[in-house]
Amino acid sequence: MSPPIGLDRTTKTLKEMPGPSTLSNLIEFFWKDGFSRVHEIQLEHSKKYGKIFKSRFGPQLVVSIADRDLVAQVLRSESAAPQRGNMDSWKEYRDLRGRSTGLISAEGEDWLRMRSVLRQLVMRPRDVAVFSDDVNAVVDDLIKRIHVLRSQESDGVTVHNVNDLFFNYAMEAVAAILYECRLGCLENDVPQETQNYISALHLMFSSFKTTMYAGAIPKWLRTIIPKPWEEFCHSWDGLFKFSLIHVNKRLTDIKAQLERGEEVKGGVLTHMLVTKQISLEDIYANVTEMLLAGVDTTSFTLSWATYIGLVKETLRFFPVLPGNGRVTQDDLILGGYFIPKGTQLALCHYSTSLDDENFVDALDFRPDRWLRKDASDHVDNFGSIPFGYGIRSCIGKRIAELEMHLLLTRLIQKFHISVSPFTDDVKAKTHGLLCPGAPINLQFTDREI
Ligand code: HEM
Repeated sequence: MSPPIGLDRTTKTLKEMPGPSTLSNLIEFFWKDGFSRVHEIQLEHSKKYGKIFKSRFGPQLVVSIADRDLVAQVLRSESAAPQRGNMDSWKEYRDLRGRSTGLISAEGEDWLRMRSVLRQLVMRPRDVAVFSDDVNAVVDDLIKRIHVLRSQESDGVTVHNVNDLFFNYAMEAVAAILYECRLGCLENDVPQETQNYISALHLMFSSFKTTMYAGAIPKWLRTIIPKPWEEFCHSWDGLFKFSLIHVNKRLTDIKAQLERGEEVKGGVLTHMLVTKQISLEDIYANVTEMLLAGVDTTSFTLSWATYIGLVKETLRFFPVLPGNGRVTQDDLILGGYFIPKGTQLALCHYSTSLDDENFVDALDFRPDRWLRKDASDHVDNFGSIPFGYGIRSCIGKRIAELEMHLLLTRLIQKFHISVSPFTDDVKAKTHGLLCPGAPINLQFTDREI
């Protein structure tokens, strides 16, 4: 094999790379609850050790990159099927239950095959524009819900903890697109089936730290500490069960339509079921993983956006995924270091987003920095890539943008939105994703028309 470009005598080895010791990492994460401050630790470490540093989490070595140009170098040199990180625990669950992997957990050829089918359905703006009416119907319901909630308050304008509301909105909207049905998340009484799903989703995020960040708990430890693995399986059971109900229901409807000789029309799910480009098990797995990826991400962004401002700047300030992963598929020279094939990289998007070198006055919230002066003006910046970049980037980006833009436009047209005096200064915390660390309570006052 040929040596990586740039390899010479000045190239340093991983051994020479700075970084926190294994012990200080252990103390930081397990004693000082670093799991809820992953984004802050990322900033602290990049200031202390520089823009490329190494950390150890048990047996797992991670090279963190907090430099915009190095992030660009990694993502631009990706292979045809990039790998984000170790998904063994996800795969193990699926093998145990005889289920398939979906886009998040699949690798290699398997991933490529599913991604090429799904990207044709949801990646282009004009493909998702057809869902506007469905999403607008959900926006109507959300506005009704705001009326109900604020009428229950003594001041008649406050809605407490808007994230609950936006969570229900995001779930209803993404299900309207993926499952082609309504779930009732914005009704006064949320159906039991949907409530069960929401509990499974919450359980999934609270078991995130053990399954994702700390790496899968070693199997031999499970007999001594069985709870994390049991909870992990239990939450996946709940998530899959919900998808099975909705996918099977649509399948039964389609069969009945075909038997009656009717033309079958529909959206993403119908297309997948009718064309059979991917198997039924693959469909279950993908809608499950897309629903998982599509609810909290969008709702956290909406919460911040109504709290402080607009979408692009909100995502720079509060990237839902404060760091992302890539496993190198070739030897690389990065920032003067030799990085062997198979190394786990952590791309420190939170640090690059708040770095003055990448954004003038990075700690100021300035949505206008994203305005283009003319068509040739490129405001793209590798410092802030909240949906990732390249072939393995977020497949739901256009869906998320559609949901957020339609909702924010309608809310701003209808209401003056202000922060309620019940809201303290809300800091971000990491809970799997970067989320508001306290409830955001808002006042929705009708605009004069
Ligand atoms: C504000 C909203 C959202 C943000 C900020 C976001 C962000 C991200 C990021 C950073 C990634 C990793 C990209 C990479 O590794 O390069 C990702 C992956 C993914 N997202 Fe999103 N996401 C959002 C909403 C959604 C929605 C609504 C859906 C589904 C409808 C979705 C489905 C997925 C899936 C399936 C993947 C894995 C893709 C793959 O590995 O091929 N996301 N997202």
